[in-house]
Amino acid sequence: MTPNDFKDQTEEVLKKLRIEDVVSEYIQLRKVGRRFAAVCPFHNDKDPSLSVNPDKGFWHCFGCGAGGNLFSFIMKIENMTFTDALNYLAGKAGVTIELDAQKSADYRLREDLKSAIRESAVFYHERLFSSSGKDALEYLRKRGLSDSSIRRFGLGYAPSGRTNLCHFLESKGFDPEHLFKSGMVSRWEDGSLSDYFRNRITIPILDHMGRFIAMGGRILDDSGPKYINSPETPVYRKSDHLFGLNLTKQAIVKADSAVLVEGYFDLIALWQYGITNAVASLGTSLTSSQAHLLRKFCGNAVLAYDADGAGRIAAGKGLDIFQSAGIAPKVAVLEAGNDPDSFLHQKGAGPMIAIIENSLDIIDYHISVQRELNDLSTPAGKSVFVKEVMAVIAKMKDPVIIAEYIKRISEEADVSETVLRSMLKGRPYGYDSPVFQPKSKISTPEEKILEVIFQYPMVIARVGESLSLADIGDERLRRIYEILFSIAPKEEISAEDFSGYANEEGLINKIMELVMSENLQVTSEVAACELVDELLLKIRDNKMLSRLQELKKEVEAALLKNDMGHDDERFIEYQRLYQYFKGRK
Ligand code: UTP
Ligand code: MN
Repeated sequence: MTPNDFKDQTEEVLKKLRIEDVVSEYIQLRKVGRRFAAVCPFHNDKDPSLSVNPDKGFWHCFGCGAGGNLFSFIMKIENMTFTDALNYLAGKAGVTIELDAQKSADYRLREDLKSAIRESAVFYHERLFSSSGKDALEYLRKRGLSDSSIRRFGLGYAPSGRTNLCHFLESKGFDPEHLFKSGMVSRWEDGSLSDYFRNRITIPILDHMGRFIAMGGRILDDSGPKYINSPETPVYRKSDHLFGLNLTKQAIVKADSAVLVEGYFDLIALWQYGITNAVASLGTSLTSSQAHLLRKFCGNAVLAYDADGAGRIAAGKGLDIFQSAGIAPKVAVLEAGNDPDSFLHQKGAGPMIAIIENSLDIIDYHISVQRELNDLSTPAGKSVFVKEVMAVIAKMKDPVIIAEYIKRISEEADVSETVLRSMLKGRPYGYDSPVFQPKSKISTPEEKILEVIFQYPMVIARVGESLSLADIGDERLRRIYEILFSIAPKEEISAEDFSGYANEEGLINKIMELVMSENLQVTSEVAACELVDELLLKIRDNKMLSRLQELKKEVEAALLKNDMGHDDERFIEYQRLYQYFKGRK
């Protein structure tokens, strides 16, 4: 399916939703005149390089070049296909979509799996509050979970029998093959089906859009593996998701920071104690895919792992992964033997918030780890300490930050800064330019005219009269002119006018660049007309100039060979063009 198949619905959605309302659910927008500015979530942005134009319905980042309309923003930030974005935005806008046309077999399968998982979660949730779930509910309450957390996270109880869920789902009409594929049901060698979870607390796993994609199950005692999780399926890859993000993403955007924990119950506890900007990494050590997902919502993260050996290694790796994904990481150090869940229930929110606020940045974290591992009162211990910590510095780029860290290490180890600096000599210094300078790539008169048109669409007619498509050399620009000439004259040109062309390679991006450019000095329609006339003249001149150069070669060659008379048409044209430019320059 292409955007063209749903042109009407797409336009209707764009009309009903205000781009700034939807975008501000993800990033903070600051009003600047008639537009909004924001720090771009799609690259390592420091300054607000992303611009949103509410009049046109477009966004564009002058830093990384990303841009488009509301659809492309949602597709990019939510990792969605066009179809998913249309469904999502149509839902928001209250626009109905005839689904049949877009339903491929694969799409239907995935929808069916998600709905089987959702039904399972609901089934188990109800069991938790029934007589069979009595012990499980008591277990959760004993752990300190409030009923409202239990309900908010949809925790449930999978009873002991073999086929409770199977029968329930079959009665709902699900295809048995799909039940197995959803991961909620196991299939035995004889082909029979049984429930995947038995006598376990169930923890539904939702993606960040709030769709049910998997389930975790915790045992109530020590009689087997503590957790089992439903297997990977067409709707679930463990390494791509963060538990809790569907509930916490707004708070994460607001704080521009997320607390990362390891366990389901850690995340639920944070939530219950009001620390709502958190996510859990689903038991795996943090993956780069998870870090990139989180980067869409914030630029900072605090790793809250426990202080044992495994937690320390996990934190070290997590720091690297976050850094490569463009997230500035810190580490919150909990006392050994504590995870955020147990810590919160013992000490409450205040001390936890204090730990998060006092979390260590990369260098302080490494200093603290190495200080523990080495005896700084011996020369050998001091040497290892300095080498280990300086190895971390050597990977850094910002000279100001490096200077600050060297000062700290010098104090910590009582080694002079000069000695420390000498350890960095000879390393490749790749400074990142810290200052972003928006540079306009708009230079040709053909581009400049488009810039004017997007601000003052009424000049289209004037341009159409004297510019023919055949005169435009650049293919993409020619296409844009073609589309503009086909649009009925109107006061405003906006994203809807281009919604049908979203699948043309590079076209929308070019349009974005032109629309969002703020080079234009013109402030009235009269001035816009004057500027367009001037630019049209320039295009005509350029065309004549290249004709002159072409003729010059021909004429000179012919005159040398003596086979062009002074009454030759080409010679006359050459003379005329020559005089024209001679008189002007
Ligand atoms: P932990 O062992 O730290 O468990 O595993 P926990 O979250 O503190 O659980 P409680 O508090 O004892 O109930 C952290 C996470 O690793 C995953 C789970 O996602 C768990 O929350 N895990 C752990 C598994 O998937 N399987 C396991 O057997 C153990
Ligand atoms: Mn725990």
